[in-house]
Amino acid sequence: MRNLLLQFLLISISVQSYYSLLPPPFKDSKLRKKKIASNFKLTKEDVEDAINFTLRYVKKLEGFEQSISWPSRIEPGTPVHGLFLSQAPDLKAIERGRQALVATKASAQLAYTCCHESGMTLETCSNSLIQSNFLQSSLNESCSYLIRKCIVEEASNKYRSMNGTCNHVTKASIGEAFSAYERLLDADYLNFFDVPKRSVTKMPLPSGRKISTDVVIVEKDPLTSLTVAFTVFGQFIEHDLSQFASSVMMNFNNSFSCCDVTGFDMAPRYRHPFCMSVSVPDDDIFYSKRRVECISYTRSFPAMRSDCSMGYLEQQNQATHYLDGSQIYGNYLEKSMQLRSKQKGKLNTNDNNLLPFADEPKQKCQVHSETDTCFVSGDPRVNMHPQLSIMYTIWVREHNRIAEALSKINPDWDDELLFQESRRIVIAEMQHITYQEWLKNLLDEKYIHSIEKNPEYSEDINPSVSNEFATSAIRFLQAMFSGNISVVNRERVLLSILKLSDHFNKPGVITQENMFDYILRGMATGLAHKVGVNHAKDYINEFLTDENYGYDLLSIDIQRGRDHGLPSYTFYRQHCGLPKATLFKDFLDVMSNETVQAISKVYSHVDDVDLLIGGLLEQPVKNSQLGPTFSCIIGDQFYRTRRGDRYFYTSTNQPTPFSESQAAEIEKVSLARIFCDNSNIDKIQRKVFEQVSPSNPLTSCTCDRILEIDLNLWKDTTGNNSTS
Ligand SMILES: *[C@@H]1O[C@H](CO)[C@@H](O)[C@H](O)[C@H]1NC(C)=O
Ligand SMILES: *[C@@H]1O[C@H](CO)[C@@H](O)[C@H](O)[C@H]1NC(C)=O
Ligand SMILES: *[C@@H]1O[C@H](CO)[C@@H](O)[C@H](O)[C@H]1NC(C)=O
Ligand SMILES: *[C@@H]1O[C@H](CO)[C@@H](O)[C@H](O)[C@H]1NC(C)=O
Ligand SMILES: *[C@@H]1O[C@H](CO)[C@@H](O)[C@H](O)[C@H]1NC(C)=O
Ligand SMILES: *[C@@H]1O[C@H](CO)[C@@H](O)[C@H](O)[C@H]1NC(C)=O
Repeated sequence: MRNLLLQFLLISISVQSYYSLLPPPFKDSKLRKKKIASNFKLTKEDVEDAINFTLRYVKKLEGFEQSISWPSRIEPGTPVHGLFLSQAPDLKAIERGRQALVATKASAQLAYTCCHESGMTLETCSNSLIQSNFLQSSLNESCSYLIRKCIVEEASNKYRSMNGTCNHVTKASIGEAFSAYERLLDADYLNFFDVPKRSVTKMPLPSGRKISTDVVIVEKDPLTSLTVAFTVFGQFIEHDLSQFASSVMMNFNNSFSCCDVTGFDMAPRYRHPFCMSVSVPDDDIFYSKRRVECISYTRSFPAMRSDCSMGYLEQQNQATHYLDGSQIYGNYLEKSMQLRSKQKGKLNTNDNNLLPFADEPKQKCQVHSETDTCFVSGDPRVNMHPQLSIMYTIWVREHNRIAEALSKINPDWDDELLFQESRRIVIAEMQHITYQEWLKNLLDEKYIHSIEKNPEYSEDINPSVSNEFATSAIRFLQAMFSGNISVVNRERVLLSILKLSDHFNKPGVITQENMFDYILRGMATGLAHKVGVNHAKDYINEFLTDENYGYDLLSIDIQRGRDHGLPSYTFYRQHCGLPKATLFKDFLDVMSNETVQAISKVYSHVDDVDLLIGGLLEQPVKNSQLGPTFSCIIGDQFYRTRRGDRYFYTSTNQPTPFSESQAAEIEKVSLARIFCDNSNIDKIQRKVFEQVSPSNPLTSCTCDRILEIDLNLWKDTTGNNSTS
């Protein structure tokens, strides 16, 4: 056995594949019917050998990583730096990511060895392996968080934990920050473990950039009747539920680029095995003039499988899986403590009631000087673009507004109690707005009905965010941006337009006089684009741009779907109840003729079509923004996000539910009220996500038609004055 292992070690170092530490066997990737060998046995020694092998490999990588750390460094301000910021791994993510990589590599190693020795196929070995786990192995510590039990005080806490643990009473880690995304369908990797799949024709899949340029129409203009606020709130909710973790080196905490500084793919001797950059065709209409051939993409950091089993790569969600405001409160206790002022329950703010400024702005934003603006919040994506920074700020202000009011109503409450009570109300408001205002504008009634049919908490429902939701379905939001940020005055007159691409990771503009309110009104005025083939060039060529060029976000998202092993669009269509498609023309049931033509030109097989592309290009279901496949994936997510959350504001299974009258107060709140109470806009339409119209007129913020929450219902009559 040991000789065999050494042999693999040599192979994997000499013919190192791009994406994997192990040699790929290049098998067809079909959605598999699981074949399991009955006589499959693993000894403890086999497992330890495989782990030992992997650890030796990791150690071997150290010298290589050291030697590439300078050539592959990321220069501040560049698009690759911006991309890293959007998925920067926390130290906790790094630790868990490394452990999970070792586990996956060891699993793959066991499968290779097993099928070598037994003559079974790699597929059978891989499937059989999933029945074993690492709990009795030397990797057992990596799984300790998965088997942790909550103590009674944790499970009976009135307030949800900061990192999502103990929401589920018996399985503490469900929904915890830094745990794995769930999957709707089994992953599809070339080697059943971690190597991204190829085309069914055995050729490489078409480059994400080629797909983006061939099927996307830049700046065509069909508008919805929804406002930009709909899109920005959607991103805000996305950040609440999901954050990927970019991988860093195995032996150092360094990030690295997969393209060299001149825009070419990194030479193999400097290319890290976690690299999976998007290649740009030579004749690209935008990049060829700039001599750019490479869009850097680093593979996502994984997490241990949720049952600690051996098996394929799962990706890590750094956010808590619950809809719980983790993007403004932080995703674990220590971080949330840093964001709090520790007085009267408030969160830190800065001059002019904006978010606190970051140290080292050049590291944390794409700005040029250490005096430029860069904000800190619970999620590093707060700086992604100015409209998003405003959305974060509005909610932090809402927290502080409520804390202030509660401290007047309950002068005895201490900082901790004020913080937790305010947080609990703010989360309830977010949940209410998401389900009652946002989702209802997104999905057709049919899906809303199945989400609402049965809203009660159930401990059998797993709230975890699905990989399909995070990697593909929710990414429709970027197609709705126009690339223009409207600056709008009190009279709702457009004063000027800012180019979105001038402001990625440069949120400073909102600190200028009146700009906060101007841009906020702009969000409630300007209209969002229809989801489909149209994309703003700000996202297609200029995303995270520096002086030279930007990235193509769509191609990066396509690449991420492949990195995460998502099966193709055809399988999800079927999963969501559409007929099986075996020819491109079978897509005509949900796509236009032109779209099907474009897709069939760029892909060589129907089973190659990426979920993101298929889903994005489906024609919207009547009265909704999305086609059936994305509606189904998003509907499933929000169904589970509510029913699987013991602390959801409507849940009566939580230790201390809201009283009926309190819940009724929360349900009065609208995003219009939140905007009014936390800015100086004066007027707003009651339904912020819908355009101003005779039936949705501008209304004064002081008008009682925009209902307000009466916090007097939170007056404490028990005389308790602390949380302990
Ligand atoms: C792992 O390998 C090292 C060196 O090759 C050896 O000394 C050690 O005993 C091995 N550990 C296990 C658990 O097999
Ligand atoms: C690197 O990350 C590990 C977590 O995996 C952490 O323990 C260590 O302190 C980090 N080192 C530095 C220099 O930040
Ligand atoms: C892991 O295994 C070691 C010995 O095999 C044991 O001492 C340790 O307690 C185990 N840890 C956990 C978290 O089970
Ligand atoms: C989450 O919080 C619990 C309880 O405070 C702690 O035991 C656990 O380690 C935390 N997990 C992470 C990933 O921070
Ligand atoms: C964006 O603004 C420019 C003017 O600055 C205008 O020409 C263009 O049509 C606008 N684009 C969209 C998509 O609204
Ligand atoms: C679809 O487009 C192709 C080529 O543009 C054309 O030949 C075909 O007739 C069209 N089919 C339908 C159903 O419109």
